Amino acid sequence: MDLVTVSLIVFAAILVFMVWSQVFGAPWIPTSHKTIQKMLQLARLKPGETLYDLGSGDGRIVIDAAKDFGALAVGIEIDPVRYYWAKLSILRLKLQGDAKVILGNFFKNNLSQADVVTLYLLQETNVKLMKKLSEELKPGTRIVTKTFTLPGWQTIRQDEQAKIYVYEVRK
Ligand SMILES: C[S@@+](CC[C@H](N)C(=O)[O-])C[C@H]1O[C@@H](n2cnc3c(N)ncnc32)[C@H](O)[C@@H]1O
Repeated sequence: MDLVTVSLIVFAAILVFMVWSQVFGAPWIPTSHKTIQKMLQLARLKPGETLYDLGSGDGRIVIDAAKDFGALAVGIEIDPVRYYWAKLSILRLKLQGDAKVILGNFFKNNLSQADVVTLYLLQETNVKLMKKLSEELKPGTRIVTKTFTLPGWQTIRQDEQAKIYVYEVRK
């Protein structure tokens, strides 16, 4: 392969990545299991609580929430490949009673059943979500966001080093 072809492939890949982010709300960058544990601990996720992961990727947050914290976990993912990947992992781990994924756009799904919502998206997507979160979530729901914040809202806990921010819905 010559340099021009390689450059074209790299350029096309960057373009797809950018369009993907714009259209859907965030690219797929998985959170490490260590960080997930920290996020769910900081959220004080309790057995029997309902967790929603918005943009659930390969389902790792949903799976850890159900497996390690005893939560009822729901992921919403727009990318069919990652949706089926997550579905298969849930079946393989026999977690289908406690964990599920929905194929769709989280902007179009109702979140009112959540006790905890996890986000690892983009700053502008968090900002776009704020109205929906404040209107739909019940008081006391914790929102845990990785790397990006909910500007203007007061955190109740945070881990600055790991860039994890926890907010609580107040009405
Ligand atoms: C940064 S990844 C995070 C994946 C997972 N939550 C984690 O922490 O490992 C963001 C995910 O959100 C998905 N996504 C972006 N916009 C979405 C939307 N509007 N509705 C559903 N999923 C979306 C992407 O396809 C991607 O898998």
